[in-house]
Amino acid sequence: MINPTVQTAINEQIRKEEYSSRLYLAMAIWSEVNGFPGAAAFLYEHADEERMHMLKLVHYVNDRGGNASLLEVDVPPMQFESLMEVFTEIKNHEEYITQSINELYEVSMNEKDYLTANFLQWYINEQVEEESLFNTILDKIKLVGMDKAGMFHIDKELEAMAAATPASEA
Ligand code: FEO
Repeated sequence: MINPTVQTAINEQIRKEEYSSRLYLAMAIWSEVNGFPGAAAFLYEHADEERMHMLKLVHYVNDRGGNASLLEVDVPPMQFESLMEVFTEIKNHEEYITQSINELYEVSMNEKDYLTANFLQWYINEQVEEESLFNTILDKIKLVGMDKAGMFHIDKELEAMAAATPASEA
């Protein structure tokens, strides 16, 4: 049976991963209607990836004899000024998620729930990858600049990144 304090903390993380998925979906929609099909494809995939992060936690809680809960999820922002703003917000959001995973890890250690601490290693590694990915994209956006040619180039790169990720791994 999973420790109740740990279960409560995981349910809160489920809420955050669900919000991440909605946030990236909102950004995908904005990208699609504002002429960035590559960014849209990339962000639709990333929204699916966040849903997978959420589901992995749901299954873990239930597999440990607990009961995963869905909590209220905010409506994300739907309007953005530019791809630069979109990816800056993603970078900030991923740093917040990393902090949240660290705190969840701390809860599991304080509760001496070493199974959960071990399970969370996957998320800790995933956050290293995610922060690195979004830092790289943001660096590229800064490099090519905010003009139309630069944004077109970035959109093509994001399209290529989306195409290179099989849906099952998204
Ligand atoms: Fe679920 Fe992007 O971290």
